[in-house]
Amino acid sequence: MSTKIVIGTQWGDEGKGKYIDILAQNSDLVVRFSGGNNAGHTIVANGNKYALHLVPSGILHPGKTCIIGNGVVVDPGVLINELKELNDKGVKTNNLLISDRAHVIMPYHKVLDELQEKSRGSNSLGTTKRGIGPAYADKTERCGIRMCDLINEKLFAEKVRANLEIKNLIIEKVYGGERLSAEKVIEEYLEYAKILKNQITDTNFVLFNAISEGKNILFEGAQATFLDLDFGTYPFVTSSNPVAGGVCVGAGIGPTYIDDVYGVLKAYTSRVGAGPFPTEQDNETGDKIRELGWEYGTTTGRPRRCGWLDTVMMRYAARVNGLTALAINHVDTIGKLGKIKLCTSYKKDNSIITHFPASLEDLAKCQPIYEEFDGWDEDISNIKDYSALPVNAKKYLSRIEELVGVKIKLIGVGKERDNTIVV
Ligand code: GDP
Ligand code: IMO
Ligand code: MG
Repeated sequence: MSTKIVIGTQWGDEGKGKYIDILAQNSDLVVRFSGGNNAGHTIVANGNKYALHLVPSGILHPGKTCIIGNGVVVDPGVLINELKELNDKGVKTNNLLISDRAHVIMPYHKVLDELQEKSRGSNSLGTTKRGIGPAYADKTERCGIRMCDLINEKLFAEKVRANLEIKNLIIEKVYGGERLSAEKVIEEYLEYAKILKNQITDTNFVLFNAISEGKNILFEGAQATFLDLDFGTYPFVTSSNPVAGGVCVGAGIGPTYIDDVYGVLKAYTSRVGAGPFPTEQDNETGDKIRELGWEYGTTTGRPRRCGWLDTVMMRYAARVNGLTALAINHVDTIGKLGKIKLCTSYKKDNSIITHFPASLEDLAKCQPIYEEFDGWDEDISNIKDYSALPVNAKKYLSRIEELVGVKIKLIGVGKERDNTIVV
């Protein structure tokens, strides 16, 4: 048996989907444990492009059991559309299971996400407006609706009516929005329930049996360390725990069952949405990275903010996730920049900071300290062996390993599944 977790080490979009798709080949189960359809995981395989939001990235490999765990918030309409799109492309999805404990994203969550963002004005968080925050808020407030409720017609209707009595007051009286009809919501969602019913089950039990049978399990991270509710740049974060520890709660397995934690990073940094970003290049360099790496959101299409790789962040990610390996992407992209900068530490007032601070006020005073590297011009996308990489690429990668203290095991040199070097 082996269990691997693949998580994001930056602000998301590191290329987790690509590595999950690759590692899924040797896995029996692929499990999502946090977030919802705020995620957008791109996989390019055999010339086809897939953008997955809720369905685990193992789905492209026939015969793998894919699980949406209890820690995920599920928008059933979005899930049904995603399954249909996959089916239309010839991908079978009957091996997908959904936890009966996962919370349901309701229409009022999406309305509230939108209204809350609007009311924050210039302080908006830049959420994906998919209802993620309000759905997790209801979970902790203990008025959420779970998948096991969705398939219980009477109970579901009661819960929707009770919730909407309060939510409509908030929508109308606090935000001046338009009230929702409980009966319309019930009608719409009960149709979803009919479609998904056979796939909703106690996935924790399925997982435990798989572990007992010695199967290989892959946990698919969504979002990333610096978007984590506890460890990210709060409040510019998402509302779940995408760090490795989130697997235990979000899938329902004990920490003793975890073998490996792969931290995915880009050879630079990107962020979509608001919040601090010490190494951001809001200039021609950032524009160049965005165009070379095609940094536009998979979920919202927004241009991503771009900047240099920050090893202060990476050391923090290594620590809070207990990383056993690094998987770096876009090594092809960064090489094209001529000169590359790598942040080693920060300068704040007159001291050197090597650890990522909690306070955003302190972080705002941090100035990155950089080392400079030469780029590499040649096309490296078909290289399969580490030793064949240009010497400048090897220098950059080994300095990253040294500064982070974790070995690089996977190197991305292009979008495709095959553009990968296994070290
Ligand atoms: P995820 O959310 O972490 O799965 O990442 P996204 O799919 O949102 O964004 C990663 C983007 O980078 C996608 O467009 C990928 O196709 C692309 N990508 C991933 N790895 C590489 C790489 O090594 N080189 C290049 N050029 N593109 C890559
Ligand atoms: P993947 O899995 C990048 C960001 C949003 C916003 C903040 C809060 O593709 O890496 P939310 O809608 O979650 O309440 O928004 O989090 N965000 C992501 N950014 N990649 C993601 O997922 C993200 N999921 C959420 O842009 O800044
Ligand atoms: Mg993404």
